[in-house]
Amino acid sequence: MLVKILLSLVSALLFKTIAAYSNGKIRNACQSMNPEHGYSSSTDPPPYKLTVNSSKFSSGDQIQVNLSGAVFFEGFLLEARDFGNPKGGPVGTFTLVDSAKSQLLKCGQGSAVSHTSAGRKMEMQALWNAPENSPPIVSFLVTVVQHYHIYWERIPGPVISQSGVAPSPPNPTVFTDGGHATPSPLPPQPFSSEGCGKTKSCFRDPAACVPAGNSACFFLSFTVEGEAVLFELSGPADGYLSFALSMDKWMGNDDVYMCVRDGERVEVSAAYLRGRTHPENITQSALRDVAWSWSGGVIKCRFRRGIYTPQSPSRFLLNESHYLFLAHGPANNGKIHRHDCQPFISTNQKVISGEPEDLTGSRSPMIMKFHGSLMLIAWMTSVSAGVMIARYCRDEWPDSALFGQTVWFQVHRALMIFTVSLTFLGSILPFVYRGGWSRRAGAHPYLGCVVMTLAFLQPIMAVVRPPPDSERRWMFNWLHLSVGTVAEVIAVLAMFLGIRQQALRLPEPGSTTVLAGSIVWGVAARLLLEFHSRGLLKIGTSTSTDQEAILSSQPSQCVRDHEGSQFRKVVLTVFLCGNIGFLSALLHTINNM
Ligand SMILES: *[C@@H]1O[C@H](CO)[C@@H](O)[C@H](O)[C@H]1NC(C)=O
Repeated sequence: MLVKILLSLVSALLFKTIAAYSNGKIRNACQSMNPEHGYSSSTDPPPYKLTVNSSKFSSGDQIQVNLSGAVFFEGFLLEARDFGNPKGGPVGTFTLVDSAKSQLLKCGQGSAVSHTSAGRKMEMQALWNAPENSPPIVSFLVTVVQHYHIYWERIPGPVISQSGVAPSPPNPTVFTDGGHATPSPLPPQPFSSEGCGKTKSCFRDPAACVPAGNSACFFLSFTVEGEAVLFELSGPADGYLSFALSMDKWMGNDDVYMCVRDGERVEVSAAYLRGRTHPENITQSALRDVAWSWSGGVIKCRFRRGIYTPQSPSRFLLNESHYLFLAHGPANNGKIHRHDCQPFISTNQKVISGEPEDLTGSRSPMIMKFHGSLMLIAWMTSVSAGVMIARYCRDEWPDSALFGQTVWFQVHRALMIFTVSLTFLGSILPFVYRGGWSRRAGAHPYLGCVVMTLAFLQPIMAVVRPPPDSERRWMFNWLHLSVGTVAEVIAVLAMFLGIRQQALRLPEPGSTTVLAGSIVWGVAARLLLEFHSRGLLKIGTSTSTDQEAILSSQPSQCVRDHEGSQFRKVVLTVFLCGNIGFLSALLHTINNM
């Protein structure tokens, strides 16, 4: 019985509310902009948008305001507020554009616009008249009722500022019902990448990813709203997500903004990063309108901060250009640990308060890209070519000399000196980048150092080698071959480990496949030439020379057969073309990272 009475009471109330609101005479909602339906505002992203035709105004100007929806709406309430004091009530007055669809409501000193009927509409326009003594920065707010209890309260619209007003640091207070500034939960929907590069700047890894379609998308966007900037950060991380403003591409001396998960909560704060250690002076003071969510392994956070923050002088100014860093990593009880992946660093510097831009970036520092490229050129291509020439092409140019030496020797020596020089140059770079030995790189640096040592031994041994007719010459030949071979094998291992290093993590499994393909290719070419030189392979050797070889019972490599030479040249050329193909594929990948 009681339930029945309650139910009828509720429905009567509801009916009354709807009836009262359908005519749009909702002056009592002027201040709160709350439809007072007894329901709460939808937590979904609003499917409605406010736009204006100018971001600057002078008193007496008319600014055209447009409300449009992706879906229909039945009721609305549009107001302009002082951005620095949004609770101070409506500012300025409106002029109607379509008086059949909209009506003016007198609200204190100013006015608001509302609907005239519950008829479905897709858009609405009105003109806002900038008053004398207007606040320097004005923001538009709209409450939109889609149907009955589905509504969005105080959807923030564009922020416009008075031209000629010296940019005074605004200090808008958070506009919430209870006047509290505690972080609000964010709707579960991903942030929108719509408008990236047009209405807001975005910085995304992978490039141009869409948070809604890709849960592996690291997303940072910033929207300039007059004197403030709205930041939205999301990405797959169960510890923390952060972004930093930096003067350079090195970590240290950075202004960092962190969203750190602590249990079911996310703490949003700003801090200073002195070196590559923990952030210092963690504070929330410069951040406003903080909101966050944590669900499905994705951290999302949103906040505003002023372009200028005179109250927080340690924050960087957003009117100056900085590199952007995007990082994520583990956290324990709200305390962050070192990021387990290189930060994503913007290619260029960016003025945050500047023009919207879709920024590009990379997790691979240029210096490590050089390291990888030099080593691949040296140990995928240069060394193989040098070895094969020495082993299989000694007899190719019997009658010509190059600078007083045989051709094969000159080419071999040049390629090997080239290999050793690239190795030397390439191995300095990671030490420069890390500022010392990296303890997190596993076996790769150890293998690299062994390769470098062996590579240096080779020319030293070559310089002190005994003359060809010496009795001890066989020792050099044997050592030179074995040290070289060991270096090559270790270099191959180092390359496989190298392409998985966090500072230059090439896309998998493609890169390992290409590298493995190039190794198989090289081994196949060498086996082919080896078999051929031992006479186990009869390709290119005509029957007559074959018989000659058998008759004279000499090993076939001593027979200067024209066709055998053709064969070796073809194999070598085909090998080199393929090898350079594999190398180019990897260099191209590195270059595009
Ligand atoms: C940024 O704003 C500050 C304070 O208004 C000013 O001193 C500085 O020169 C501005 N920098 C740039 C690059 O405009």
